Amino acid sequence: MDTPREGPWEALVAEALERIAAADQPDDLESARVHYLGRSGLLTQALRDVGRLPAQQRPAAGQLGNAARDRVSTALEARRAALAAGVLERRLAAEAVDVTLPGRRPVLGHAHPLRQLRAEIEDVLGRLGFATVEGPEVESEWYNFEALNIPADHPARAMHDSFYLDLPPGPEGRWLLRTHTSPVQMRHLQAMRGRLPVRMQAPGRVYRRDDDATHSPMFHQIEGLAVDRDLGMPHLKGTLAAFARQMWGPAARIRLRPSYFPFTEPSAEVDVSCVFCGGGGCRTCKDSGWIEILGAGLVHPRVLSAGGYDPEAVSGFAFGIGLERVAMLRYRIPDMRLLYEGDLRLLQQF
Ligand code: PHE
Repeated sequence: MDTPREGPWEALVAEALERIAAADQPDDLESARVHYLGRSGLLTQALRDVGRLPAQQRPAAGQLGNAARDRVSTALEARRAALAAGVLERRLAAEAVDVTLPGRRPVLGHAHPLRQLRAEIEDVLGRLGFATVEGPEVESEWYNFEALNIPADHPARAMHDSFYLDLPPGPEGRWLLRTHTSPVQMRHLQAMRGRLPVRMQAPGRVYRRDDDATHSPMFHQIEGLAVDRDLGMPHLKGTLAAFARQMWGPAARIRLRPSYFPFTEPSAEVDVSCVFCGGGGCRTCKDSGWIEILGAGLVHPRVLSAGGYDPEAVSGFAFGIGLERVAMLRYRIPDMRLLYEGDLRLLQQF
C-alpha cells in the first residue's frame, strides 16, 4: 500500500461488510472477524503497513484505516447482536409451550377391591361404634388358641391348619401366623384392663394351609367384639341386622343358625338374605334364598376371664367376617385366587 487512497480501504470494508451481512451463524461471524480484524487479519495488516509509509502520509492514512476498522467492528457487533437475538427467537419458538392445550391426565391407580371393601365395612362398623384395632400377624399359641378356649388337644386346632414358624417357643408357646383375627380380641381386652364398654373391630390378614377356588393360604377377616353389662343375643342380632342393611340395602335380612365355635357360647352361623335374588332363590344361593356371611356368638366365659373380665358381671358378643367371601359375593368373583393375581383386567373394573 504505497499510496494511501480511499480506494483500498473502501474495497476492503465493502468486502468485509458483505461477508458480515452473509454470516448467519455465530461461527461464520467469528471467522469473518478473524479474517479481517484478527491478529493477522487483512485490515490489521493494512493498518500495520501504514507505519511503513513516509511520515507525512501516515496521519491521513492512519485516519482512514482507523475509520475502516471502526466500521467493520461496528458492523460485526451489530451482526452479533442480531444473530444472538435470532438464536434466542428460534429457541423460544422451538421451546414454545401452548398453555391453552388441554392437559394430559396421568393414569391413576386405585385401591384394591379388597381394600375398598375393608374400608367400607370398617366405616359401617365404625358408625355402629366399633373402633378399629390392629394386632400382630405373628401370634403365640396362647393368643391364637388357648386364650380363646382352644386347648392343645382341641379338634379346632387341626381345622385351623396353621403355619408354624421355625422359632424357639416363648412362654406363650410356639409362634405361628395367626389363623384368625380373634387373638386381637384378647389383646384388646387385656389392654382395656376391665374398662367398659368394649367395642372394637379388628381387620387384617390371616393365614391357613388351604388353597383352592374358595380358599387362599392368606385371606382377610374383620373381627367384631362388644363387651358390656347385660349384652346378649338381641344385641348381636340387632348389630348384625343393621350391618347387613348398611351393606346390602334396607331390604337385607339376616338369620342365625346354631353352630359351634370354642370361643363363643352359644354360637351361630349368620346368613344374609340372598343379595342377588332377594331371597327368592337363585344359582348363587343354591335356591335357598340365603347366603352365609359370618360366624358369631356370645363371648365364652373362659375368654372373658382370660381377657381379665369377670364373666359373672359382664357379657359380650363377637363376630367374624370373611372379607374375600363378601367380595366374591358382591362382585360375583368365582375364584378367590383372582383377587390376588394382580391382573389389571380384573382390577381395572373397580
Ligand atoms: N374366628 C372365627 C374363625 O376364624 C370367626 C368368628 C369370630 C366366629 C368371632 C365367631 C366369633 O373361624
